[in-house]
Amino acid sequence: MFERLQKKWKVKGWQFVLIIATFAIGGSATGFIGKKLMPIFPIGPTWLWVIVYILLVTLLWPLAVLLVSIPFGQFPFFCKYIKKIGRRMGIGRSGVRSQKSEESHLSTLTSHIAVFASGAGSNAQKIIDHFRSHPSINVSLIVCNNPSAGVLQIANKEGIPVLLIEKERFIRGDAYIKELEEHTIGFIVLAGFLWKIPAALITMYPGKIINIHPALLPKYGGKGMYGKAVHQAVINAGENESGITIHYVDEVYDHGKTIFQARCPVLSSDTAESLAQRIHKLEHEHYSQVIESLLK
Ligand code: GRF
Repeated sequence: MFERLQKKWKVKGWQFVLIIATFAIGGSATGFIGKKLMPIFPIGPTWLWVIVYILLVTLLWPLAVLLVSIPFGQFPFFCKYIKKIGRRMGIGRSGVRSQKSEESHLSTLTSHIAVFASGAGSNAQKIIDHFRSHPSINVSLIVCNNPSAGVLQIANKEGIPVLLIEKERFIRGDAYIKELEEHTIGFIVLAGFLWKIPAALITMYPGKIINIHPALLPKYGGKGMYGKAVHQAVINAGENESGITIHYVDEVYDHGKTIFQARCPVLSSDTAESLAQRIHKLEHEHYSQVIESLLK
């Protein structure tokens, strides 16, 4: 049961424990304060007392839980959770808007990200972790062209839908735009995705597709410049620094406008592997933050 809840809430480990603790303490506090407040109301019959008490605790509960969630660091999660309950109860609905249009209205308020990844997915994992409890940004889809990629296990573990794509349809066909629309994707993040992005997709998502490259562009980019090849080229050239580049995606490999760069040293003792590790660290540190700042 706990596992199902964890999956549903898209949280894990300590965060799950803190959420349960917030529910428990917030719930008890609500009962306690509710009872203390009841004598204010001069109520005769027991049935009326019960109704007023239920109404009172219903109003108090969200407040108590939100307050308790602050010291536990779970405020964003509970904001989202309580909003969701409110919506289910029809609170905040204007007029007679139907459930379906309400859902699509709400989904336009949320930024749904698709992460395109075809490798191990360590960046994808960091991005998922970062936005797990975010009130308005959600990793809603993993797009992958490699059925044995590690990122698929991550998607499965996190309960995130996967779109497995095939080259001909992606590059020369409809670029899976219908599927992306079905998931209301508004922003695309490439994290270890090696195929060139077709013009159709770039037109569909202008300024909304970004990539991370493990070197300081414009150097060491372009076709074939991925993985170890990039780091080996940096070392062979005798560079004393390398880094990461986060950039918009256009129709040329590693070419779109740079959004952000971070640097790290290249040591004389470095191998492509050791440099890759240092670069990965930089990627994990910055990519999610940059995505968040762009979506704000
Ligand atoms: C990263 O180094 C990124 O710069 C490049 O592909 C790699 C993906 O690594 N575009 P991972 O699969 O996220 O671990």
